[in-house]
Amino acid sequence: MSVPPEIRKRTTPQELFEAAAEEVVRCANQAVAQRGRFAIALAGGSTPKNLYTLLATNARTSLPWDRTYFFWSDERHVPPEDPESNYRMAEEAMLSKIPVAAGNVFRVPAENPDAAAVAEAYEKTLRKFFAAEAGQVPRFDLILLGMGPDGHTASLFPETAALQEKSRLVVANWVEKLKTSRITFTLPLLNAARCVAFLVSGTDKASALHEVLEGDAPGEQYPAKLAHPDDGKLIWFLDRAAASGLTQSN
Ligand code: 6PG
Repeated sequence: MSVPPEIRKRTTPQELFEAAAEEVVRCANQAVAQRGRFAIALAGGSTPKNLYTLLATNARTSLPWDRTYFFWSDERHVPPEDPESNYRMAEEAMLSKIPVAAGNVFRVPAENPDAAAVAEAYEKTLRKFFAAEAGQVPRFDLILLGMGPDGHTASLFPETAALQEKSRLVVANWVEKLKTSRITFTLPLLNAARCVAFLVSGTDKASALHEVLEGDAPGEQYPAKLAHPDDGKLIWFLDRAAASGLTQSN
C-alpha cells in the first residue's frame, strides 16, 4: 500500500531548491549508512538546474560524492554535447564542479541514432550496476522528476506507448507532438524507488498539478499521477506559483 505523498510547499523557487537539497543530502547519507552507496537518478528539463548548482556549492561538503552514483530518469535523443542534452545540463551545473569519479556517472548513450538500442544498452547498464536479473526491478535510493505543463514526467508523455510498459526498465518512447523519441525510465522502475521527489515551479504548471494531486482524470492523461512508489516515499517540492491551483492547504 503506497504512502500518501508529502507536499512540501515553499514560497519562492530558491526556497524550493534549498528544501530539495536538504532532502538529497539526507537521502544520500542515509543510503550510504545503510547500504554503502547512494544511487540517484537525475531529472532533466530546466527546473532542476538550480538544485544541481546548490548541491555543487552550498551542499558540496555534505554529500558522500565518492559513494554517489548518477543516472538519468530520461534523456533526449541527442549527443551529450547538444544544448538539449539533460546530461550536459547536469554536467555543467554540478558534475564538472564536484569530486566525482567518471566511473560513478552513468549517462544515457543517446548519441546512438537507434533509440531502441540506446534504451536497451541503458537498461543493461542499470541491471549490471544493481546486479538485477531479468524480471527483477532495482530500487534507486532517490529518483528526481520534473513535470511538464501537460502532466508528463520523465519522458512519459500523455497517451504514449511507454505508459503501458510492465517489464522493461528503460524504453525509447515516441512522442508524436515532439516528433522524436525520448529515452525514459518506465513506471515499474520509477515505482520501485525508495524515494521519488518531484520539483515543480511556476504558474504554467499549476493547472496540471491540480489535476495530478487533486483531480480525477486518468493517469494516461496526466502521467505524473502514475509515478507513486509502491513501498517508498513520494515528495512534491512546490513553489507558491506552481501550487496556486491546489485547493487543499497542506
Ligand atoms: C525532460 C524532462 C521532463 C521535464 C519536464 C519539465 O527531459 O524534459 O525530464 O520530464 O522534467 O518537461 O521541464 P521544465 O523543468 O523545463 O519545466
